[in-house]
Amino acid sequence: EKGGYDYFMLKEIAEQPKAVADTLLGRIDEAGRLALDEVRIPDHVLREVNKVVIVACGTAYHAGMIAKYAIEHWTRIPCETELASEFRYRDPILDQRTLVVAISQSGETMDTLMALRHAREQGAKVLAICNTNGSTIPRESDAVLYTHAGPEVAVASTKAFLTQLVACYLVALYLGQVRGTKWGDEIHSVIRELSQISTEVEKVLATMEPVRELARSLADKDTVLFLGRHVGFPVALEGALKLKELAYMHAEGFAAGELKHGPIALIEEDLPVVVVVPSPRGRSVLHDKIVSNIQEIRARGARTIVIAEEGDETVVPYADHLVRIPATPTLLQPLVATVPLQVFACELATARGNEVDQPRNLAKSVTVE
Ligand code: F6R
Repeated sequence: EKGGYDYFMLKEIAEQPKAVADTLLGRIDEAGRLALDEVRIPDHVLREVNKVVIVACGTAYHAGMIAKYAIEHWTRIPCETELASEFRYRDPILDQRTLVVAISQSGETMDTLMALRHAREQGAKVLAICNTNGSTIPRESDAVLYTHAGPEVAVASTKAFLTQLVACYLVALYLGQVRGTKWGDEIHSVIRELSQISTEVEKVLATMEPVRELARSLADKDTVLFLGRHVGFPVALEGALKLKELAYMHAEGFAAGELKHGPIALIEEDLPVVVVVPSPRGRSVLHDKIVSNIQEIRARGARTIVIAEEGDETVVPYADHLVRIPATPTLLQPLVATVPLQVFACELATARGNEVDQPRNLAKSVTVE
């Protein structure tokens, strides 16, 4: 059942192009318009939404963090993303015009379920993004958009994450479409690129051997840091989470802009630092700032592992290891940038002799608070 792979996680990483394609299937019509039949919240209600609140835990929370950038940029509706376990205990402000999006692979995560129950009690509409048919979270929501990742067996989430991202983009684009905001050329080109993105994920997977080699060479390290900015920040957090849970290493993700506010003190000789570099074509200011961050940490001895778009030559002089990813629109980059981090963590876990599919102390779905 592992389909020839040593671990479910490897199989699930490899299945990502298909998972992404399946989640898009039938949801974008030939004219490039989105058709989301499963969303049962009527359009007139969505048109009235004045705030989006995303709740989730762990990896799903990272998908939600990325969704915030997309939703606000494409729809201009204020959006916040919060850990489900924090949300429900702080008396959040919700009403009938709030759309709450609950993201959960299993559909059974207790904190997320409690958050959505709380939201519905306050009159908010709840849309679930879920991978498990008929599970509790979609059953208790007003609407559901299923991710079609197929069953995810490995405890560490991989293909579910990519499909959660796709679902979040679809929700953002759909909201934009229904409300007519920013429904211009940019949106059409994003839809076009999104519908092709599984091929790009495939391309990344085909180039992972050097990443595996690099991971093996770092097996005796204690700490790895991850830096990112904009949507690259949640990607950095996700890379760090994968490494903690699989390799049992100290791993932290930072917003690169925060370096000087503290984390730079951690940089020392030979410390591996993974940096997710935004596209030089999109928000080029951010790109240039990250490049100077890479220079700064390298000057202090860090071993830089740079994830950058093909054709981005500015990073070459400062990268001890360079991982290339295909060019994508800025907001979609997490779909390709996360893959090397998954492979990296999986290979490091293997090199350290850890149980990849069943990391210590973890359960696939956390049904207690
Ligand atoms: C990390 C991981 C967990 C889950 C989290 C939420 O690899 O798998 O952080 O993402 O427990 O689970 P779901 O999505 O089932 O609500």
